[in-house]
Amino acid sequence: MNEYDSEKVAQLLCEARQLEMTNTPEDADVIVLNTCSIREKAAEKVFSDLGRLRELKEERPDVLIAVGGCVASQEGTGILKRAPWVDIIFGPQTIHRIPELMRERAQSGKPQIDIRFPEIEKFDHLPPPRKEGPTAFVSIMEGCSKYCSFCVVPFTRGPEFSRPLGDILAEVSTLAEEGVQEITLLGQNVNAWRGQLDDGSQADFADLLEWVCDIPELERLRYTTSHPLEFTQRLIDAHAHLPKLASHVHLPVQSGSDRILAAMKRGYTSLEYKSIIRRLRAVKPGISISTDIIVGFPGETDQDFAATMKLIEEVGFDGSFSFLYSPRPGTPAANLSDEVSQEIKTERLHILLAATDAHSAHIADSMVGSRQRVLVTGHARKDAQELAARTDNNRVVNFPGSASLIGQFTYVTISETATHSLRGVWRASE
Ligand code: 5AD
Ligand code: SF4
Repeated sequence: MNEYDSEKVAQLLCEARQLEMTNTPEDADVIVLNTCSIREKAAEKVFSDLGRLRELKEERPDVLIAVGGCVASQEGTGILKRAPWVDIIFGPQTIHRIPELMRERAQSGKPQIDIRFPEIEKFDHLPPPRKEGPTAFVSIMEGCSKYCSFCVVPFTRGPEFSRPLGDILAEVSTLAEEGVQEITLLGQNVNAWRGQLDDGSQADFADLLEWVCDIPELERLRYTTSHPLEFTQRLIDAHAHLPKLASHVHLPVQSGSDRILAAMKRGYTSLEYKSIIRRLRAVKPGISISTDIIVGFPGETDQDFAATMKLIEEVGFDGSFSFLYSPRPGTPAANLSDEVSQEIKTERLHILLAATDAHSAHIADSMVGSRQRVLVTGHARKDAQELAARTDNNRVVNFPGSASLIGQFTYVTISETATHSLRGVWRASE
């Protein structure tokens, strides 16, 4: 979400203010920090970054410093108290207002803050999608109304609201016609998306997937993130009959213990989660499943942790984003007492990461020798002589090949595995 927002900020500033992108703060006239507050570490980072920018602002007072995103949303004027050299503070739903805030800053000579959630306005005022390479994100909904007890997102990004169906289809069509081959539909909870049809009836996320897949120029479709609560049978069936849907679902589970899941207010049991996975695999054998797991939620016992390990074993995740629980101000879980020591939590995280990494490596090994349909996204990161591509199950493959393949689908045979990627062989005849 933040990458998408950052890209929009950059695009907006380049277009509205004729600015150019630079990666060197010393060269910049405007510096925007787009921030994350999902865990404490991410939130604190902004203040150390702002500390470094203080000197720069003293030397060049004309440099405009803007702070956006979820830390801005949560802290508001608190940012100005800690870093009075900041000029503009905007939230995740007011990124489209930056040019205006810049004007108001210049006219008034005072810092400007807008961290409201003016509902759908954001979508209506952002610049149209710009093609950059063969893949693109399309935001389909904003915010979250699930209120998991550990999570700050409903407070920082505001309540769930869906982008209108027509706007989404128009944006995907435009991108696809311009040559984008793979689109990722984006939202905090994409399967909470609802659309209003002309006849007054309501469309759901499974309908949306179907209509997006009907766009002829589009080759592959992904979505992230989904929630187990609204993972309907209709959505599972969509994976059976929509060949353009990638063979990968990111479905955060958070814990394998029903007691902890209830305390987290996730609204499902581990059995219900496993039932979704079982049904997905029944209609789409080999589909890869990745997840998010929180280790060390307040009161997590050895037994609870063992239940999470058991779930990991049973599901066999293709990948997982696992982190230690971080208390977030304003969330209900932040008030829960917790007797488990930091040491034990860290140990649990290491045990869990070893298991999920091993399983991910095992799946990578099992792909060696297979022929994969991949979208070539560009040059390899480590070796510009090689190409980088993405498999259907969301793995990166590097292989030697002609740059003319960039932006196209092709086939490679997986030859070996590396730490976080695969290596492949491409042959012209394939
Ligand atoms: N502490 C640790 N991890 C968190 N997440 C959300 N809130 C917290 C928190 N307070 C994780 C969840 C979520 C992912 C985006 O971030 O696993 O799925
Ligand atoms: Fe946070 Fe839960 Fe909403 Fe995900 S579903 S963004 S974890 S509140």
